[in-house]
Amino acid sequence: MKTPKELKVKPIRNGTVIDHITANKALNVIKILELPSEKSAVTIAMNVHSSKMGSKDIVKIEGRELKSGEVDKIALIAPNATINIVREYEIVDKSEVHLPDEIKNILECPNPNCITNTDEPVETRFSVIEKEPVILRCYHCERIMTKEDIEAQFKLF
Ligand code: CTP
Ligand code: ZN
Repeated sequence: MKTPKELKVKPIRNGTVIDHITANKALNVIKILELPSEKSAVTIAMNVHSSKMGSKDIVKIEGRELKSGEVDKIALIAPNATINIVREYEIVDKSEVHLPDEIKNILECPNPNCITNTDEPVETRFSVIEKEPVILRCYHCERIMTKEDIEAQFKLF
């Protein structure tokens, strides 16, 4: 019997492939991107073999090109993710995600007494203290957030 060439998930025609996601973190990535949206088809592969990483997750979003501003927050969950923009089946752009120095309005501060958790309209703001594993500090109350605290805010179930 012929062995088929291994193809994890079928190629997409137009859209974005988020590759090299830390194994088992695809659902957190979906959540941080506020997907699925009504229009785009999303396919997910989890725990697939990777020569570089051992195992990895992949998320493919059909019909939508993610902008660098939206992809950088993925680095909070998957620091080694690569973003591939696909047009007519060809990769037209490949980039890595970069954690910004400050994370604004994405995360909630875990400190119940933080000003961002009161009725005041204050945006959340964290400084990045360490990139990998990520450690953040609240600009307002100095509460430290670890990788586990961050992941807990982007669970689907
Ligand atoms: N891909 C896709 N649809 C396409 C083209 C590519 O879904 N039309 C996916 C591939 O399956 C792969 C990712 O986009 O998961 C990157 O493709 P490619 O650059 O061809 O793979 P590699 O060379 O293995 O990438 P890298 O060098 O980043 O590891
Ligand atoms: Zn705080």
